[in-house]
Amino acid sequence: MQRIVILVSGRGSNMAAVHQRCAAEGWPARVVAVVTNRAGAGALAHAAAHGIATAVVDHQAHATRQAFDDELARVVESFSPDLVLLAGFMRILGADFVRRFEGRMLNIHPSLLPAFPGLHTHRRALAAGCKVTGATVHFVVPEVDHGPIVLQSVVPVLAGDDEDTLAARVLATEHAIYPLAVRWFVEGRLRVDGGIVFHTGGASQVLI
Ligand code: GRF
Repeated sequence: MQRIVILVSGRGSNMAAVHQRCAAEGWPARVVAVVTNRAGAGALAHAAAHGIATAVVDHQAHATRQAFDDELARVVESFSPDLVLLAGFMRILGADFVRRFEGRMLNIHPSLLPAFPGLHTHRRALAAGCKVTGATVHFVVPEVDHGPIVLQSVVPVLAGDDEDTLAARVLATEHAIYPLAVRWFVEGRLRVDGGIVFHTGGASQVLI
């Protein structure tokens, strides 16, 4: 049974989607803990209601980025994770933290990476006149919103879309691709070769 630890800062809808599918589909895995940097994160309520352990590591209580990363690493390690998921975790993690979990840490980002790393992705996609956008699940590397791509969803930009309507349609696809990518990981179906991620069974790595 693989142990999954999920790092969140906010509402936690992706965390809930992964937890739900993991339980419903009987993956060889279990969400053992949800860790947040914000005591007020909505995600904590879902976790508590489902009997998942929670922990808060408040970044404001640490004098330096390194001190925060060290404490976060200590707390995450205390749950002995096989896989760490970033799901709307809004702190930049230092290279030491990332290297410690490299190869077993995934992130979801609401754009078609490598386009639009960073914040305000939907606003930027609209401003650029993109006709499609989407979301990306990728392995985490020290450079923010970079790293080997596991799975992407493609979402058309519709006439009249604003940031909110586009974000909502992309989010719905996030709830499909993050659980699927995690399932592939825990079932040992991912192979990374030269920075490219392959599904060992040849499954499509794009949701259109
Ligand atoms: C999602 O859009 C995710 O792609 C981004 O942050 C948002 C988190 O939403 N990294 P939620 O907390 O999972 O609802």
